[in-house]
Amino acid sequence: MPIADMPEAKTYLRRLREVLNEDKVSHCIFTAEYLASFAVSLGIDHDDAVAAGLLHDFCRCLDDSEMLDQARQFRLPLSEAQMAAPTLLHGPVAAETCRREFDINEEVYQAIYWHTTGRPALEPLGQALFVADFAEPTRKFPEAVEARARLRKNGFEDAVLYVAEMKAVFSRRKTVVDPNTQAFLLWLKTREKA
Ligand SMILES: [Fe+2]
Ligand SMILES: [Fe+2]
Repeated sequence: MPIADMPEAKTYLRRLREVLNEDKVSHCIFTAEYLASFAVSLGIDHDDAVAAGLLHDFCRCLDDSEMLDQARQFRLPLSEAQMAAPTLLHGPVAAETCRREFDINEEVYQAIYWHTTGRPALEPLGQALFVADFAEPTRKFPEAVEARARLRKNGFEDAVLYVAEMKAVFSRRKTVVDPNTQAFLLWLKTREKA
């Protein structure tokens, strides 16, 4: 089903074009389309998938001080990692902003909130957004190509585990590591064995 069939898609797109640059709007559209292409087979609501995909980076263009100001205004809990690298807050700040502006439901809120790092016990929509954001078809780096191939050939559980592993590897190369990335990976691995 095309994403434009989702009732609020036009409103979301109009607002995205006001707050994001062209590249990021395009990434949000590709994320929503890719996510919607496999979400329904996982039992996820199509319109929730479109909402989460389109809105997940709604606050991606705020600078560090705007991000921290917004987070404080929303009374979000701030971790050491987020204080040191405020970009890590773009998911939580977008979730709060979109809840106020668009009245998104709890599942969409949780998916947007945790899309960068994941977290233990993340719901299916959040896991699917985590994969789609990393592997949407305009992402050309080898790990994104591999994630798309795994989703196609091996299925969703293998793809989400692979993306979490790659994100943990990438995050260890950075100066600031968000512990939620590692915790999510551990949860997925433990769940695999259960
Ligand atoms: Fe993001
Ligand atoms: Fe994104």
